[in-house]
Amino acid sequence: MDPEGSVQDPEEKYSVCVGREDDIKKSARMTAVVHDREVVIFYHKGEYHAMDIRCYHSGGPLHLGEIEDFDGRSCIVCPWHKYKITLTTGEGLYQSINPKDPSAKPKWCSKGVKQRIHTVTVNNGNIYVTLSKEPFRCDSDFYATGNFKVIQSSS
Ligand code: FES
Repeated sequence: MDPEGSVQDPEEKYSVCVGREDDIKKSARMTAVVHDREVVIFYHKGEYHAMDIRCYHSGGPLHLGEIEDFDGRSCIVCPWHKYKITLTTGEGLYQSINPKDPSAKPKWCSKGVKQRIHTVTVNNGNIYVTLSKEPFRCDSDFYATGNFKVIQSSS
């Protein structure tokens, strides 16, 4: 609470304006640096999704991938080795078959959350991204932090 007695929204100071809604609706994607972290923002089927820009597998550029649906879930397909990452949750999807039942159809499975997803909000035609502060270790953190980070901190 500040001296005036009002409660400041703690999220407000962490969100960063990355562009205009009109622009991303035209291009369907944009890239941004949010607090020294590179992210890509997609506009797909009327919704916004933000995630770390480097693929959790080997750091591929997800902003250059295509979006496709797999098992009814929209995924960004990494242009380097074609890994599929769900836009809403950051899960890595793969297909598996039961080797003991060769007639069975391949089934889509999840490796769990691999790519860190960030929050997108829209206010007055501006797009804001708030970085995820979820405390779990996400594989994509490797390429977004430390020595593999492309954008180096100015501090
Ligand atoms: Fe993305 Fe390998 S770097 S699939």
